[in-house]
Amino acid sequence: MNEALRPTHEIPLEAAASPILSVVVPTFNERDNVTKLYRKLAGTLEGVAWEVVFVDDNSPDGTWEVVRDMARKDSRVRCIRRIGRRGLSGACIEGILASCAPFVAVIDADLQHDETQLPKMLALLRDGSAELVVGSRYIEGGSADSFDKHRAGASALATEVAKRVLGVKIADPMSGFFAVRRDSFEQLAPRLSTQGFKILLDLIATARGRLRTVEVPYVFGSRLHGESKLDSMVALDFLGLVLAKLTNDAVSLRFLMFAMVGGAGLFVHLGTLFIALRFVDLPFTEAQAAGAVAAMTSNFVLNNLLTYRDQRLKGLAILRGLLAFYLICSVGFFANVGVAFSVYRQEPIWWLAGAAGALMGVVWNYAMSGLFVWRKR
Ligand code: GDD
Ligand code: MN
Repeated sequence: MNEALRPTHEIPLEAAASPILSVVVPTFNERDNVTKLYRKLAGTLEGVAWEVVFVDDNSPDGTWEVVRDMARKDSRVRCIRRIGRRGLSGACIEGILASCAPFVAVIDADLQHDETQLPKMLALLRDGSAELVVGSRYIEGGSADSFDKHRAGASALATEVAKRVLGVKIADPMSGFFAVRRDSFEQLAPRLSTQGFKILLDLIATARGRLRTVEVPYVFGSRLHGESKLDSMVALDFLGLVLAKLTNDAVSLRFLMFAMVGGAGLFVHLGTLFIALRFVDLPFTEAQAAGAVAAMTSNFVLNNLLTYRDQRLKGLAILRGLLAFYLICSVGFFANVGVAFSVYRQEPIWWLAGAAGALMGVVWNYAMSGLFVWRKR
């Protein structure tokens, strides 16, 4: 049977005009913007062999349908529709890796970035002046006047932290608008985080000064249609990225958040225990069990809301996930006590044994939850 599937002759590779620039556009609910952006790209990149890859996270507004329609009419347009995943950085990385031109640019779909800078950015890459060109709001000629006070402050603070803590040299590492050589990017790609939204900062921090970078100014415009997807949770993502890069990728944000949620669980446990003993008058064993169930439940809810918000379980999957989480944590409890016990036997220091047990428990719970509860699809 398999015989028939084997190719009988080599298919020759056609030497069609291959693009010099791949433009990657992450989208989530940008239905009304994508066609306008496409038209603008076509106008500004006249005379350049380009392609555009939209990476859409299965937008409820059907952005991917609009892109698919454009792709039918213009083969320079492509659409990646991702299902079961969310995240700006991951979308950009996937789009870049799915394209082929020697130079790649990332630009938002909502026309806040100035696409007319693209030819200049490409020229700087082509003539070898730079390996990375950043569209910058914070150098002479650029601005972000459309930001409200709150957002401007947050952006400035994040930029300052990135510069001081990670030693980043450029003026606008928080920009989402940049162009890069493919070969440079592909070398760094395996070390980039797919979580979060600061792909440029990640790229710069991971390169550790090895990317020759030039900034070009641009004016950050107002969003055309729809609304921003960045909520206050992005601050956590940012912190996680800084931490990961500081520790050379030893701790991930997810693990950190998982452990923090676990820490909060301890308070839920003690609170429930207190209430069950004092006000419900339960015997200690039952009260302790109630505390454990309450803590596991609140941990599950918090992890689903925060730690795994890009893979949040919904509907019936919540119940299935919760049961699996109970099971995992129960085994984790035995792992915890077991490790604590064996450490204590060798070295009877109560806090060392306790901490070792707790660490074992949290590592177990984290590893197993990633496999069985918030499994990547
Ligand atoms: N595929 C995908 N998945 N795309 C996403 C997601 C996601 O989870 N979240 C946002 N996007 C897309 C949006 O559709 C838009 O095209 C682009 O990413 C930027 O998102 P916005 O929601 O418009 O972000 P912003 O305008 O508040 O912030 C942007 O500009 C800043 C300044 O340049 C982002 O690019 C920031 O990273 C950047 O710092
Ligand atoms: Mn935007």
